[in-house]
Amino acid sequence: TSGGSDAAKRRAGESAVEAVDDGDVVGLGTGSTAAHAIRALGNRVDAGLDICGVATSFASRELALDVGIPLIDLDEAVGPDAPGIDVAIDGADQVATDGTVDGAAIIKGGGAAHAREKLVDAAADRFLVVIDPSKEADVLDRPVPIEVLSSGRGVVARAVRAAEGDPTLRRAERKDGPVVTDNGNLVLDCEFGTITDPASLATTLSSTPGVVEHGLFVGLADEIHVGTDRGVRVEQL
Ligand code: A5P
Repeated sequence: TSGGSDAAKRRAGESAVEAVDDGDVVGLGTGSTAAHAIRALGNRVDAGLDICGVATSFASRELALDVGIPLIDLDEAVGPDAPGIDVAIDGADQVATDGTVDGAAIIKGGGAAHAREKLVDAAADRFLVVIDPSKEADVLDRPVPIEVLSSGRGVVARAVRAAEGDPTLRRAERKDGPVVTDNGNLVLDCEFGTITDPASLATTLSSTPGVVEHGLFVGLADEIHVGTDRGVRVEQL
């Protein structure tokens, strides 16, 4: 979550939902902006739109059930005779479209959901990112969330330091102890300063044993829907 206004987030979510067609399988992202998209999709389902959703987290599943979106498992969506995922709509913590990568470089995982988000968003034919302007940056500089096997926490932290990062175990707010993800793992928030080469950092992190998934999404997005206090700007990538 961020400093952006709720109205701006809602406009972004509603704009992306316009891209959904009858018969689509839709990846349902996590976070406050994606939640607006899920609610808008629920309204369209009420009005007769025939779709199935694939949730990216406990929270997005709960909301989708609440607003009446029929759900299928990720495995059902991508099996050999399955339809695949037509479009995924998901939020982001920071988005940079500075041209160093083909498309956008994105940081996700503020809600610790990035492992399943990346599975769903990468599997989708089209991945639409929904943000407010507070998420836009020239170059990424926010901490990168890394989901780690609990037994691999020390090994991953050492690899992060070797890559000139500073790892901090994410702690829970209403529990004495760490955040535990929907997958039963821990999260290291890793400060790398200014990330000038996100693709190479992503490769380094992906090849570190103990990393379940990191929050760098490089070159995956197809469209960015930026909701503002006045309207929506859509960037095609
Ligand atoms: C969840 O882990 C994240 O990747 C979210 O998509 C991200 O934190 C965006 O959330 P907000 O839309 O609430 O800022």
